[in-house]
Amino acid sequence: MRSLIDIQELSVEELGELIAVANDIIADPSKYSEKCRGKKLATLFFEPSTRTRLSFEAAMYELGGNVLSVSDSNTSSAAKGESVADTARTVGCYADIIAMRHPKEGAPLVASLHAGIPVINAGDGGHNHPTQTLADLLTIQREKGRLDNMTLGFCGDLKFGRTVHSLIAAMSRYPNVKFVLISPEELKLPSYVKKDILKTKNLEYIQTTDLEKVIADLDILYMTRVQRERFFNEEDYLRLKDSYILTPEKLVNAKPDLAILHPLPRVNEISVAIDDDPRACYFKQVLNGKYMRMALIMKLLEVR
Ligand code: CP
Repeated sequence: MRSLIDIQELSVEELGELIAVANDIIADPSKYSEKCRGKKLATLFFEPSTRTRLSFEAAMYELGGNVLSVSDSNTSSAAKGESVADTARTVGCYADIIAMRHPKEGAPLVASLHAGIPVINAGDGGHNHPTQTLADLLTIQREKGRLDNMTLGFCGDLKFGRTVHSLIAAMSRYPNVKFVLISPEELKLPSYVKKDILKTKNLEYIQTTDLEKVIADLDILYMTRVQRERFFNEEDYLRLKDSYILTPEKLVNAKPDLAILHPLPRVNEISVAIDDDPRACYFKQVLNGKYMRMALIMKLLEVR
């Protein structure tokens, strides 16, 4: 039995297989409509979500399975003080697989040690978000036709942005990927991510505060929201929240085949004026997330 807590638990070969399955689902969804008949997914979300929870649930329904859901921590016994371990052990009696989002880093890992069924990390605090990375990888593959030989820019809150940490870990394993890290000083990539991934693997990266200075070099621009819920004081959030606002004027020097990604939700950091630009891929990412989650559920349930 296998869980998915960190994207690095999947080999490059397995990522390729998941992408291939997702592309096959896109080509012929009817082939997959009974794959999880009789199986139940429990979505345990102790933090807000629109895309991740609903795409997991849509994924399971489209595989012919059923869904049990906790979408508000106040309506589960966590509000009475139940531990993550006991909650996981309990849900393991009712469901076949769990997708868990939690504000505490490591909570899905703890759940995976006690559930007795596969647990998928659907976002843990400011740490990791491996299934968003699956959506990002499918989007990059479909837009660029490759996952190697590219310059990837991350812009915004690189400190708390868990999607950034997971995507850097994934993309670091493909050849000739260069990283451009664009953020305010206070929201730079955590040193553990730099040390454990970029420096350990001797990968090429630069850090800058100036998006316009580097935009012409980028093949992918991954914009992120400043994560208000992770700040200790509102004053700092208000000062930093609009550090980067992508507008059509800022794209003047960008490559014509740039792909603009964002895990969403967006607040202010991408002007709606960009939504109709053919380079805007963030709503494609939303849909791709459902297909990759379908592929992942089948893999972890060992459905052929
Ligand atoms: N990208 C993402 O995790 O979105 P939600 O918070 O809406 O699930």
